[in-house]
Amino acid sequence: QLSPVEASKRLAAYKAVEDHFDPSYKYIGIGSGSTVVYVVEAIAAKGRDVTNNMIFVPTGDQSKQLIIEAGLPLGGIDSLPPVQEGVHKALSGEAAFSLSTGLQDLGLKGKRQSLDVAFDGADEIDEDLNCIKGGGACLFQEKLVATSAKKFICVADYRKLQPRLLTSWKAIPIEIAPLAAPTIKRILITLGSPDPKIRQGGSAKAGPVVTDNGMWIIDAPFPPLLLERDLKAGDPGDGTQGTWEVHALGRRLKRTVGILDIGLFHGRNGIQVTNSGEEGGGQKP
Ligand code: A5P
Repeated sequence: QLSPVEASKRLAAYKAVEDHFDPSYKYIGIGSGSTVVYVVEAIAAKGRDVTNNMIFVPTGDQSKQLIIEAGLPLGGIDSLPPVQEGVHKALSGEAAFSLSTGLQDLGLKGKRQSLDVAFDGADEIDEDLNCIKGGGACLFQEKLVATSAKKFICVADYRKLQPRLLTSWKAIPIEIAPLAAPTIKRILITLGSPDPKIRQGGSAKAGPVVTDNGMWIIDAPFPPLLLERDLKAGDPGDGTQGTWEVHALGRRLKRTVGILDIGLFHGRNGIQVTNSGEEGGGQKP
C-alpha cells in the first residue's frame, strides 16, 4: 500500500509515460530522484519489444542503475550521434526546455545532440513552469539532458506546484567546484542569499556531499522568486531591492566562476508538468 505522496508520484509518472512516451522514439532521457523510479517502471512495462529499440540516457549514477536494473538499453549523453545542423534548426522551433538560455549557456548551439524526450522530477515548480531541481544532488547532468531533449517532461506530485519558486522549497541547489566554495559563498551573500550552506553528507558520510561530477552542492536560500509580471514599478528584479526575478537570478548565478550549474531550470518553452493534483491518486494529507 503506497502512501498518498508515493501514490501521487506513481500516478503522475504513469500519466506522463502514457501521454509522452512514443514507441517510435529512439533516445530517451531519464532523470533522477524518487519520482523517476515510477517513470522507469512505467516504461519497462511497455515491454522489451518496444524498449529494446531505444537508448536510455541517464542523468547520473542513480538513474544509470535504474536503467540497468529495469533491463533497458543504456546510453550516454556524450555518446549519441550528433544531429545535423538542418535537423537541429527544424527541431528548435518545437523544442524543449529553456532553449535560448540553455543552449547559449552550454555552448552547444548548432551541434546539439538530440533526445526525443527527457523525463525528470523537480523539487518545486512555479506558475510559469520554472523548476527548482537538485534536491537529490543531481543537477548539472539533469540540465544537460533536459536541454538536449526535444521535449522535457517534468513529473511531479501534488506538493511540488507552487505559485512562485522558493515558497515551500527554501534554497536553490548550486553545483560548484570545491576550490571555489568560499568565494561563491561570499558572492551569494552579496546577492542577497543570507546563509548559503555547503550540503553535508549527514550520517551516511562525514563532510560535503560529492556529486556524480566530483563537485559540491551549495544550498542558497533566497526570498521567493518573482516572475516578470510581479515586478513593481522601479524594481528591476536584480536583487537591489531585495527581490529577484527568476530569469535575472538564473543568469546572474550562471556568470559566476566556479559554478558548474544551478538547480534553477528557468525557461518558457514547453515544459510540461503532469501533476496528479487532487484529482485522484494521492489525496492531500
Ligand atoms: C535530483 O537532484 C533532483 O533534481 C530531482 O529531480 C528532484 O529532487 C525530484 O526528486 P523527487 O522525485 O525525489 O522528489
